[in-house]
Amino acid sequence: MPHGRITGWAAHLPERVLTNAELTTMVDTSDEWITARSGIRSRHVDGRVTEMSTVAGREAMAMAGVTPDRVDLLLLATTTPDQQFPASASVVQHNLGLTCGAVDMNAVCSGFVYGLVTAMQFINGGVERILLIGSDALSSIIDWEDRNTCVLFGDGAGAVVIERTGDQPSLLGWDLMSDGSAAGILYCDQGGKIVMHGREVFRQAVLAMASAAENAMTRAGITADDLALVVPHQANIRIIEASLKRLGIPMERASLVLAHTGNTSAASIPLALVDAIEAGRVAQGDLILMVGFGAGMSSAAAVLRWDPPTG
Ligand code: COA
Repeated sequence: MPHGRITGWAAHLPERVLTNAELTTMVDTSDEWITARSGIRSRHVDGRVTEMSTVAGREAMAMAGVTPDRVDLLLLATTTPDQQFPASASVVQHNLGLTCGAVDMNAVCSGFVYGLVTAMQFINGGVERILLIGSDALSSIIDWEDRNTCVLFGDGAGAVVIERTGDQPSLLGWDLMSDGSAAGILYCDQGGKIVMHGREVFRQAVLAMASAAENAMTRAGITADDLALVVPHQANIRIIEASLKRLGIPMERASLVLAHTGNTSAASIPLALVDAIEAGRVAQGDLILMVGFGAGMSSAAAVLRWDPPTG
């Protein structure tokens, strides 16, 4: 098992807030409908992945006390890079003054957990230090006339520094999955806007979340009772409730930020993780389950033993 641990973290949301009330002036919807069906009250928009990632990445590195020359790899999970190419990771690398490899990873809303598992394999292979960022600007690919989708998504970025340690492993179990047969229920063509069959996505999301979480917990040799915190993908409060119910995990153990972020895709899990850490919800040795799903349908889960640096 990889011996890597998270030593720095940060979250960033763009300034512009779009409330449900404002959305009612754009499409035929209501605050009541959006809140009841999704749990979302507002979201941040008009972000750019390179800018949000740079801010979050810089703050995470500062917290870890890591200078740019000591980062060995930058992984940027995103589905909305600023440009077709170069990779947004290359721009962020330059902005942060890093002198290492940098690559975008696209597993849509599962991207951060895919990135975390990937980072741990690099650490296991001898890499010392990785900056992992989950960042998305979904407001750039929303059809603002489609009430089925425009009320659900937002922009943001979350970053973690992962460092090699000789101590106990922190990634105890994981699961990565993709079911390409469902690729047509949620997609965005090149240069296009998000297209979604909401009810079917909802149904499959609950199954995918529960399956990924169960597989990761089995591989970690733990049960739901052992978890101190669950960090689910923040797509819809009802999806989170339904999947945690299947898993037998009380909602009080979930970190929730979607009421003020909406679904920020690859940024969603790190935003919720950072929120829980900063609220003092995890202590040394606690077990955290991160679990996400997204277009693909992709899904991913990881069980992490919380092992922050002391002092
Ligand atoms: N405001 C008001 N009414 C809306 C609306 C909105 N923003 N969006 C859709 N509606 C309408 C629909 O047109 C439908 O009307 P109809 O019955 O006259 O056709 C009605 O509300 C009910 O739609 P339905 O699809 O049954 O609602 P739902 O309970 O499934 O909730 C979602 C819709 C989109 C919130 C829900 O299906 C969902 O969250 N799906 C998963 C989406 C997701 O997580 N995507 C990202 C995955 S990473």
